Parts: sequence; structure tokens; C-alpha cells
Amino acid sequence: MMAYFPFFVFVGMLVLTYLQIIDAQGIGVCYGKNGNDLPSTIDVVSLYKANNITKMKTYDPISETLPALKGSEIEVILDIPNSQLQSLGDPQQADNWVTSNVVNYVQQVKIKYINVGNEVSPVNNATSQFVPFLLPALTNVQQSITKSSLQDQVKVTTAIETGLLATTYPPPQSAFREDTIGFIKPIIELLKQNNAPLQANIYPYFGYIGDPVHVTLPYALFTQEQPDPSGYPNLFDAMLDSVYYAIDKAIGENNIEIVVSESGWPSEGGLGATVENAATFYTKLIEHAKSNNGTLHRPGKPIQTYLFAMFDENLKIGAETEKHFGVFHPNKTQKYNITF
Ligand SMILES: *[C@@H]1O[C@H](CO)[C@@H](O)[C@H](O)[C@H]1NC(C)=O
Ligand SMILES: *[C@@H]1O[C@H](CO)[C@@H](O)[C@H](O)[C@H]1NC(C)=O
Ligand SMILES: *[C@@H]1O[C@H](CO)[C@@H](O)[C@H](O)[C@H]1NC(C)=O
Ligand SMILES: *[C@@H]1O[C@H](CO)[C@@H](O)[C@H](O)[C@H]1NC(C)=O
Repeated sequence: MMAYFPFFVFVGMLVLTYLQIIDAQGIGVCYGKNGNDLPSTIDVVSLYKANNITKMKTYDPISETLPALKGSEIEVILDIPNSQLQSLGDPQQADNWVTSNVVNYVQQVKIKYINVGNEVSPVNNATSQFVPFLLPALTNVQQSITKSSLQDQVKVTTAIETGLLATTYPPPQSAFREDTIGFIKPIIELLKQNNAPLQANIYPYFGYIGDPVHVTLPYALFTQEQPDPSGYPNLFDAMLDSVYYAIDKAIGENNIEIVVSESGWPSEGGLGATVENAATFYTKLIEHAKSNNGTLHRPGKPIQTYLFAMFDENLKIGAETEKHFGVFHPNKTQKYNITF
């Protein structure tokens, strides 16, 4: 038997390494449910599996999605909506939430991140009302996870939008705005203390439509041949690094990782929103995120990325483009023939 021992160890190591590579490189897709013509949750989980989509960001009501994920091997982000942040300021409520949604499922569902609040920001009129509730909610949910001894397995975090930044260009000049730094700094310090990543929603599409004169379509779509004057080959990397540089400036040396919790391109309803552009964006983004290129400031490894979103959602409010971010039609056929 002794002679075989090293062999088994070797095979075991290969399998482990392989799994870790798969884990790091898999592309996630955000499962939003704001439509009245979408497939059942069970069918959606089957659709993820059939397309080899190994990661899902879920939104409320997650109590409906969690049972369908049992035994699926899909790695999930549980999103806690902004409307629930205030109640989570009560530690008992945080315990209850963690028991119902994490402890009760964690044996059968691969819960990887809890995303406490989405795009809460003092300078975003749609979410600024939630600013006072975010840090207490994050702190309490983290404590509940730690009490359940799940702190190494389930990371507690929040998702930011790039509107928190003052300058984003060139990326090394980037910093948080003076009127957002007091809000975001203690949050980033809490994440650092718990070895949790920060999540950021990175949308080159909105960068492009916000300034189509200076931001060219090829730069936003990963098809520009030459890097821009700041050395960046595409807007996605420039935006992502601008968040990394802003974090460095806010808290000094750190190894906080950013998970791109949403990124996407609409197929109709506004400037540059075409099926062709969206197909290019998603295809190139997947290729880039899975490669070991990383970004100029954080090179050498894949970028954890979640595409927004699984389906076109006909009940979304706001700009017409909001309804057209899906990579699948509601009838479960693919819009762009993507390989995940
Ligand atoms: C999913 O992965 C399996 C195993 O690698 C492969 O055989 C299959 O063709 C893939 N399916 C799709 C839709 O990519
Ligand atoms: C947000 O609210 C501020 C203060 O009320 C106002 O000045 C600003 O125009 C609003 N911004 C948007 C985008 O509605
Ligand atoms: C990775 O970087 C190399 C060298 O800059 C570049 O040629 C290649 O296109 C990049 N690949 C992806 C998928 O980003
Ligand atoms: C699915 O829906 C799309 C968009 O409405 C349509 O173009 C396509 O033909 C449909 N496919 C099937 C198989 O029904």
C-alpha cells in the first residue's frame, strides 16, 4: 500500500488544483426576476446547469430560489435588498435572517457571499436614504455568520457603484469623493478585517453613454487595438482599477479583492444598445475575466465576474434599456450564443 500512497496524494492534488481553477474562472450570471413571463425557478436552475453556468447572484425573494438550488453545486451570492437593511440593525433580526437563509441551507446549497445592500450611496438619490443602515446591518450579519462558525465559508460584503468615485481617469488618480469617503471607509475596513472581498457593479455601457465623445465604442466593447494614453486596453479594466486605486488611497496597503457583482450591455432601447454590441461585450468580457490577465493594477489572475443578467425583465422600471440586459430570452433560448 505504501507504494501507492504518493500516487493517490498526487492525484488528489491534481483534482484539488483543477477544482480551484474551475472555481476561480467560472462566470456567474445574475438571476433577476422582474418579469411576468419568466420560467419557473426550478427551470431556471436547470437552465444554469445545462449551460454550465456555475455561479448565480440571486435577488429577493431568495426564500423562493434557495430550495430550488439544493444539491445543484451552483455557487451563490445572496442579495439582501436595501429595504431590509434597517431591520438588520437589530442583532436578533440578523441572527434570524442568517438562520433562515444560510444555516438552514448551507449543507445543500453552496452559499459563497452574502451581499448586504446594493449600490447604497450618499450621492445616489435612489439609495441615499439607506446610508445610515448599511454599516450596522453589515456588522450584525457578519457577527451572526461568525457565531454560526461559517465565517471562513460564507463572506459578508456589499456591492458599490462607481458613482462613489470622484475621479476615475486616469485610474491611478482615482479616489472616493469627499462626500462619500466617510461612508465607505469604515465599510472597507470591516471587509478587510474579515478577509471579505468588496463587490462592485462595473458597467462600461453607462460610462460610454455618459460621454460618447471621449469614450469610444471599441474602448467600451474590448475591441480597441491599442491601449489608451493611460495604458488601459479597455474601459472595464480602467473602471475596475479605479476602484482598486481608490481603496488603496482610502485605507493604505491592503489585499482586498473586488468581485464584479454585475456587468452587462443592453440589446435595445438606447444609444449603442444593439444585439451585435451586446454579443461582442459579453463574449469579450467572459474571455477576459476567465484569462489570467487580470488588470494592470491587479495582474495575473481571473476576475470574479457576474453577468447582468440572466433574462430580459419586462417589468423593470427606469430607462428602456433596463428591460434588455438579459443573455437569455424569457423562452429560455440564448440571445447571443455565449459559451460560459
Ligand atoms: C458543458 O460542459 C460539458 C462538460 O465539460 C460539455 O460536455 C458540454 O458540451 C457543455 N455544455 C455547454 C452548453 O457548453
Ligand atoms: C438628487 O437630489 C439633490 C438634492 O435634492 C438634487 O440637487 C439632485 O439634482 C438630485 N439628483 C438627481 C439625479 O435626481
Ligand atoms: C491578455 O493579455 C495579452 C497581452 O496584453 C493580450 O494580447 C490578450 O488579448 C489578452 N487576453 C484577454 C482574453 O484579455
Ligand atoms: C424565443 O423568443 C425570441 C424573442 O422573442 C424569439 O425571437 C425566438 O424565436 C423564440 N424562440 C423560440 C424557440 O420560441
